[in-house]
Amino acid sequence: MTNASPTVYPYRLRIPGPISVPERVRQANAKPVVNHRGAEMRAILGEIQRLIKPLFGTQAPVLTFGSSGTGVMEASLVNVLAPGEKVLALVHGQFGERYAQIARALGAEVDVIESEWGQVPDPQQVAASLDKAQYRAVVTVHNESSTGAVTDLAGIGALLRDRDTLFLVDSISGLAGMELRQDEWGVDIAVTGSQKALMCPPGLGFASVSDKARKVIDRDDRCSRFYFDMRKALAGVDNNETAFTCPVSLLFGLHEALTMIHEEGLPQVFARHKRLSDALRAGCVALGLPAFGDQAAASRTVVVASVPEPLTGGAIVKHMYENYNTVIAGARNKLSGKVIRIGTMGQISEADILTDLHYLERTLTALGHDVPTPGCGVAAAMASLR
Ligand SMILES: Cc1ncc(COP(=O)(O)O)c(C=O)c1O
Repeated sequence: MTNASPTVYPYRLRIPGPISVPERVRQANAKPVVNHRGAEMRAILGEIQRLIKPLFGTQAPVLTFGSSGTGVMEASLVNVLAPGEKVLALVHGQFGERYAQIARALGAEVDVIESEWGQVPDPQQVAASLDKAQYRAVVTVHNESSTGAVTDLAGIGALLRDRDTLFLVDSISGLAGMELRQDEWGVDIAVTGSQKALMCPPGLGFASVSDKARKVIDRDDRCSRFYFDMRKALAGVDNNETAFTCPVSLLFGLHEALTMIHEEGLPQVFARHKRLSDALRAGCVALGLPAFGDQAAASRTVVVASVPEPLTGGAIVKHMYENYNTVIAGARNKLSGKVIRIGTMGQISEADILTDLHYLERTLTALGHDVPTPGCGVAAAMASLR
């Protein structure tokens, strides 16, 4: 329940996904459903392939599933693993932990390189592990939404290019807000979801598949798989068909979202995400909430700010919601209480982050935190935007 008047304070979804869906996308989602195997749907699926590949930085096929992000993380593993094979999981936050858990659930033997949360995996450590064991896959998270740290995919991919080991990457909260160059960086399967920088409602998962990965996927000795069997999905992709009934309405919306991204221009989209995340981070710092983690690897799609004691992230989140109808995120993991997280992805503008900072200042003041000078958060953000 919210106490804030919804007319004075309209609902603002400012978490790092799902994000607020633009009106154009919502209109497209509402179009009449067509035959999922007819000419109209094939045309849309073909256009989606053409428009989405540059976001992955790949020429490889991009497979579409009705799924959350976790589903396509599982799909990436179930298609390449046989039980008992080894996986090297590079963990620097909650979603890296999840990738490792999925691999274990599928019967893999999982070695973990854990970096301090807020830091990023170190390619040299990865190189040392690769010399000691034969891994079927290295798995990691591009943009760790729980900490706001961005992995050096190029550095790790370069280590795997001449090995049999595959490189599987969760770019669920990175893709479309930050550069991903799958082919150049040597990523074999990149997965993402619709509800983040792709600006759609939740429900679509995507996986792009390199030739190197495809050779492994095609083997019959992999884990048992059915719905997520990429062999079935790959068989139809060139004819713009999906193996099973595709989420027609969500795909109409995705097509619109991709059109919007290309109208703005991919470099411009990435630059806007960087500009706004830098400004929001500067505003948080000015308010007395230091940026969390390694700032050389700072995310462009989520701002993670440390919360000084005796404040707690939970209290800030609650106050922002109850008083300003503004939904930001805390943490439900080992950073619980210690950080707040605000999404900076999708169709956002200066107005969004300046509003965030204004409400954040009022919230902090109400909670008894000494804000250095009134308006300092907004002022710092505006200085960063200039
Ligand atoms: C980096 C990352 N990976 C995986 C997931 C899980 O995606 P889903 O909740 O759609 O299953 C999320 C969701 O927030 C995420 O941010």
